[in-house]
Amino acid sequence: MIRRLDFAPLDGITRFVFRRVWARRFGGADRIFVPFFSPTHHRIVTQRDLREITRQGAEDLPLVPQVMTRLAPDFLWAAEVLEDMGYTEVNLNLGCPSGTVTAKGKGSGFLAHPEELDAFFDQVFSKVRLPVSVKTRLGYQSPEEFPRLLEIFDRYPIACLTIHARVRPEKYKGPLHLDVFAEALKNSKNPVCYNGDLNTVENVRALEDRFPDLEAAMLGRGAVADPALFRKLRGGPAAARAELQAFTQELYQAYQDFYGQTGTAAQRMREVWFYLIHLFRDPDRLNRPMRRFRTPGEYEAAEAAIFQELELMDHSVGVLA
Ligand SMILES: Cc1cc2nc3c(=O)[nH]c(=O)nc-3n(C[C@H](O)[C@H](O)[C@H](O)COP(=O)(O)O)c2cc1C
Repeated sequence: MIRRLDFAPLDGITRFVFRRVWARRFGGADRIFVPFFSPTHHRIVTQRDLREITRQGAEDLPLVPQVMTRLAPDFLWAAEVLEDMGYTEVNLNLGCPSGTVTAKGKGSGFLAHPEELDAFFDQVFSKVRLPVSVKTRLGYQSPEEFPRLLEIFDRYPIACLTIHARVRPEKYKGPLHLDVFAEALKNSKNPVCYNGDLNTVENVRALEDRFPDLEAAMLGRGAVADPALFRKLRGGPAAARAELQAFTQELYQAYQDFYGQTGTAAQRMREVWFYLIHLFRDPDRLNRPMRRFRTPGEYEAAEAAIFQELELMDHSVGVLA
């Protein structure tokens, strides 16, 4: 049975402002992963990184910070900084499919260099004090790479191995390799968490039926598309229209306070609505103005029309890619 539900890191979306407002209004995740930060050669925590990983104003949130690097000394430095801030776990990003990241051998690009990855873990685990968890894919090019990768993961005490059941070229779309995930779950010496396309309560229940031994799952886009998804998974109610509207309005206001600009706040809201629109029936006609607005006023009108005219469903439908 799935006992633990994690909120996936979604860079650009589940940042500081979103996390705070979402947790206050809906919540229900056991842990909330902070989108990755990449240590620089200068080993300085930039203002932008600090805003993300600070615990001030987020003391009550169960945050897990994530680091993306292929250099063990940089990872160890970041783990120390995070430990000083009071974190109790640090996550390594081995999943990011972006070309600029993988070209540097980072994110899922690190999976293409198993020997280096082994040496990285060797150095990290000989010194690190914080528990280290890993978020990975099944391979760089092909899921056939996974047994070799698992051999490496198995040599180290990884606190949790979260597996997005795709390979790098598949990004976040298309069929998942559930058969390969099944092997990973069966053979991994470390605890495993499942990730990928859990967008409804039904999806999660079906996963539990298929993998009765699975103890943890991570949900990302589905929880932005349906902010009440974690709550529903715990037996709570679906989002009501007034509740959802209060959430988007508070979020928009919080972005305005944070950025000091309505334009940037509206841009951020466009990214949230990219997913949230799927909670409404037949949204195409009103999704167009939401995707194309140019001014905050146009954004506000697009949102008002959605709440006024579209039927709210109790779960999201459609592909959230
Ligand atoms: C816009 C976006 C940003 C993401 N940012 C991160 C990130 O910072 N770190 C990470 O490990 N994964 C990141 N991911 C991957 C998600 O954490 C997650 O693995 C993916 O969305 C699949 O899970 P889902 O189907 O539940 O959304 C991102 C995905 C998206 C779509």
